[in-house]
Amino acid sequence: MSHAEAKIYPPSADAEAKAHVDAAAYERMYSASMSDPEGFWREQGKRVDWMKPFTQVRDVDFTLGNVKINWYADGELNVSANCIDRHLEKRGDQTAIIWEPDSPDEAAKHITYKELHAETCRMANILRDLGVTKGDRVIIYMPMIPEAAYAMLACARIGAIHSIVFAGFSPDALAARVNGSEAKVVITADFAPRGGKATPLKANADKALKNCDASVKCLVVRRTGGDVAWDDARDRDYTALAKNAATTCAPEPMNAEDPLFILYTSGSTGLPKGVVHSTGGYLVYAAMTHEITFDYHDGDIYWCTADVGWVTGHSYIVYGPLANGATTLMFEGVPTYPDASRFWQVCEKHKVNQFYTAPTAIRALMGQGREFAEKADLSSLRILGTVGEPINPEAWNWYNEVIGGGRCPIVDTWWQTETGGHLMTPLPGAHATKPGAAMKPFFGIKPVVLEPTTGEEITTNPAEGVLCIADSWPGQMRTVWGDHARFEQTYFSDYKDYYFTGDGCKRDADGDYWITGRVDDVINVSGHRMGTAEVESALVAHDKVAEAAVVGYSHDIKGQGIYCYVTLMNGEEPSDALRTELRNWVRTEIGPIASPDMIQWAPGLPKTRSGKIMRRVLRKIAENDFGALGDTSTLADPSVVDELIANRMNR
Ligand code: WT7
Repeated sequence: MSHAEAKIYPPSADAEAKAHVDAAAYERMYSASMSDPEGFWREQGKRVDWMKPFTQVRDVDFTLGNVKINWYADGELNVSANCIDRHLEKRGDQTAIIWEPDSPDEAAKHITYKELHAETCRMANILRDLGVTKGDRVIIYMPMIPEAAYAMLACARIGAIHSIVFAGFSPDALAARVNGSEAKVVITADFAPRGGKATPLKANADKALKNCDASVKCLVVRRTGGDVAWDDARDRDYTALAKNAATTCAPEPMNAEDPLFILYTSGSTGLPKGVVHSTGGYLVYAAMTHEITFDYHDGDIYWCTADVGWVTGHSYIVYGPLANGATTLMFEGVPTYPDASRFWQVCEKHKVNQFYTAPTAIRALMGQGREFAEKADLSSLRILGTVGEPINPEAWNWYNEVIGGGRCPIVDTWWQTETGGHLMTPLPGAHATKPGAAMKPFFGIKPVVLEPTTGEEITTNPAEGVLCIADSWPGQMRTVWGDHARFEQTYFSDYKDYYFTGDGCKRDADGDYWITGRVDDVINVSGHRMGTAEVESALVAHDKVAEAAVVGYSHDIKGQGIYCYVTLMNGEEPSDALRTELRNWVRTEIGPIASPDMIQWAPGLPKTRSGKIMRRVLRKIAENDFGALGDTSTLADPSVVDELIANRMNR
């Protein structure tokens, strides 16, 4: 189906009547944000409480060699005070966090804003006692338990910069991030229960810390109480210390431009880079998008199913919702445990109003059959959200009909780790939706579609090309940790004076946006971003591997799967056992999320005479779509291609 024929769902009268922003308000506010960004964002800056009010709004330059991004730069605030303290008077006894554990047999917890305050202060005091001060880095390697949120907010409270490492990452990946950020402390837990299994987080941290500076301390939350090894000089028992820790701790005044967190994410080249987000602009943007995109109203129960290890968890489980005084649900488990009705049981149990998940989860649950959803009472749901990758219309329709009962607007939110918050999405009471379209830019966002090779802006509709953003917004990343040159190179060098997103995009005849996926060597596996270069370097680190090339291919559930072409060292014999060995190798080097789906033995790779691997050809073969390979005449040895086609894995 072409986009021109896409079905259009106008906003319902109910959604429109209730919404913070209706169609007229969107038009008015969007044009104000374009014609007077300074005035627009000055006003929005009032969403947060400032310890010292800002007078400057924006100071931005996208010129290569001189890139700077500053918002509210002379203001001072504390993120933890904004997410907790300022709510205490009005909603101290309201639930801030509903915690739903992995097993439905374990009791859920309801943590009020007062309790959140006390627990965050305890954690902050413990970190201070460990010598953590303003500007220091703290790694958080945790299950989805309330202590993960306390840890984030505690860092923010004392001005430490946190860097969360997803609990699915390996000890090696953890060590790289501890060292890359020069962290003083790693906060972890004994085990991470998920889907009835428990990842040994403390044991992983032990392995990682062998490769880190001896001064790094390890603070351990007892989640299961299971046995763990202990190093008295290095390890501290959070659960024991918290009992005696003080429940107050004055929030540190922070400059708006002080970093709030670093989050490592994959790019098209090299090792993951540390995306740096700010304190003031980030919080304004996370709070604003949370309220408006999800049309959050006081008293609503909001659930984002992401993990705090990803940016979605930062902006839309913790910072955005808590800045707005919301009730945010934190889920430790997985969608299919104990069975495929779990998400929907949790929605019923906690009367969830806004539900935000990823297309890969929707596809997986759709595949299990609608009975699992029909067993649950989903009448509390009002808004549905999706994020992480383009959603295929089948999954969108299922989400709309089976989960939303045809009454819940779907917000297909396009954004990135780098953007801090939503850049494009339909708004529930303002915009029509089309299955698979991210539709409209958020306030202050000026998307441009460029012709990929010339970089010319395409101003007519329909348009197709690469997606750039013409100007800054407060939630934009500020730099790459320790490498501003890489920041400029990655995002500002391909297309002059624009922020380059790495995504391709179409703008249809109505002017609505559709994200078509990455145009670089980044792939998206179950909504997790993966650099093909990272998987390649993990593979070649194995002593039987001479060379490797990795590409993505379409996968029914994961969106994209990981397809590896591997050339073995001379004398090594291919075998299924070696395939398993390599798969496990990548899992230990990076983590289970990087597990190769297919490994094809490649006696040779298609290279140009200058030695460049022709990835375009490898992508086609991996897709089982090799009818039109394009021009291969520049290949040093074109017969390599026939061999790869003959032995392709994906048929
Ligand atoms: C990449 C960013 C932002 C939170 C989760 C992923 C893809 C994200 C959508 C969407 C189509 C999407 C893009 C983007 N993506 N959301 N709604 N429609 N594509 O963050 O790991 O930084 O990945 O995810 O390709 O560039 P991330």
